[in-house]
Amino acid sequence: MKRETNDKIFVLLLIFAFVLLPISVTAHDKDQGGHGGMHMSHMNEVKSMLKKELGERYNDPLPTPLKEDIEAGSKIFFTYCTACHGKSGKGDGPAAKSLPSKPANFTDPAHATFYSDQGRLWIIKNGVPNTPMTGWKGVLTDDEALKVLYYVKTLIKGKNDNMDHKRAHSHE
Ligand code: HEC
Repeated sequence: MKRETNDKIFVLLLIFAFVLLPISVTAHDKDQGGHGGMHMSHMNEVKSMLKKELGERYNDPLPTPLKEDIEAGSKIFFTYCTACHGKSGKGDGPAAKSLPSKPANFTDPAHATFYSDQGRLWIIKNGVPNTPMTGWKGVLTDDEALKVLYYVKTLIKGKNDNMDHKRAHSHE
């Protein structure tokens, strides 16, 4: 009787080791949604391209936006960008599934601050070569590109939470 119990435990352990463990590892890989080596090295390559294109201007701060600028930016975002980037900017728009590379997630602080503001502005105008992110130079004026970036910058999760927080308090 005792031996049988031990056998059962052994079988359970085997099941855990060979079935559950690999599943949880694969699930974890999927969770990472392409944050693996390939993705990071692509982003690093893009970053060095941006630094080369922009030179010393890479880290220049953006002019401070007015509330109207952000509102105008949101209209541009909902017209041209949500198909891929999604309404909330998570990179889950209706077109995203059929794209060969995943649109950036603007709500994830690590992703959304990886490139400098000027770098992102350059991307909005010129696109990222060999990806579905095309440049919008011919469609948007420089001013509109800046405004849509202002809006994109408000989508960072922590930042929005803070704003809501502040707003909640200002009503007290
Ligand atoms: C056809 C799909 C598509 C559309 C439409 C699109 N994007 Fe993108 N975007 C992408 C993809 C894919 C990437 C990731 C490119 C890469 O792999 O480097 C990206 C990357 C970016 C990045 C750089 C990553 C980051 O986090 O800063 C910015 C900024 C950006 N998009 C802004 C915009 C804006 C603003 C618009 C609308 C004017 C727009 N995109 C429209 C697909 C799209």
